[in-house]
Amino acid sequence: MELTRRLAAIAEFIPPGLVVADIGTDHARLPMNLVLSGRNPRVIATDLNEKPYRGAYSAVAGKNLTGAVDVRLGDGLRALSPGEAQVIVIAGMGGNTIVKILEDSRGVLAQARRMVLQPMADAGDLRLWLAGNGWKLVAEKLVVEDGRIYPVIVAEPGVETETDMFNLEIGPKLLENGEPLLEAYLEKIKADYQKILSGLARSRSRDSREKAIMLTSKLTRVRELLCRCRQNVK
Ligand SMILES: C[S@@+](CC[C@H](N)C(=O)[O-])C[C@H]1O[C@@H](n2cnc3c(N)ncnc32)[C@H](O)[C@@H]1O
Repeated sequence: MELTRRLAAIAEFIPPGLVVADIGTDHARLPMNLVLSGRNPRVIATDLNEKPYRGAYSAVAGKNLTGAVDVRLGDGLRALSPGEAQVIVIAGMGGNTIVKILEDSRGVLAQARRMVLQPMADAGDLRLWLAGNGWKLVAEKLVVEDGRIYPVIVAEPGVETETDMFNLEIGPKLLENGEPLLEAYLEKIKADYQKILSGLARSRSRDSREKAIMLTSKLTRVRELLCRCRQNVK
């Protein structure tokens, strides 16, 4: 069972031997790969929606993996009981959807040893939630798929020592570790900030002005980081 680059990057952070829950599994590629490769003996694969749930169920049955990959229909971590899975994967959803799923099931979370999260957007909001809710960032990686760059965030129970909100927005481990895609990722963030700023410039409200001031200072820091990336490359 081949994995895309994004799913392969997620799999690298899953400790072998532990029970994994893949929330929002859709095609169930990751759970099937983890079991077929011998990395993990058991994976719980859940999806909120009937169609992906049925697709995952048929794919798993088609590979005779029904005993090892337990496919369930349900909303987020509510499909699990506390202690059933030591590793929780949530990939391919927005950062704020992931936060909502985590907020909804603190009992299940309290028993988990590691989370591997791959937000499609709003990664900063997700990191801030993790740092504020007893999770420390232990690793991060950037991965390209279909021309877009996505962060993979690995968190474990503990105290996050990074307190700078801007660094938490960008990704402290990405900044620390000489991540090869960091420059391209920062360019994208810079372009996003600039786009929002030009929208804000059209408004005369006080709220917009305050947002623009905040965003301009973040843009300055992104530019500084980009300069540092380029100096390191030379
Ligand atoms: C874009 S797919 C991602 C599939 C796979 N995780 C991946 O990264 O390739 C998102 C999946 O999450 C499911 N989903 C969305 N919200 C969910 C929730 N609250 N609980 C469980 N599944 C959810 C959707 O039905 C969909 O199948």
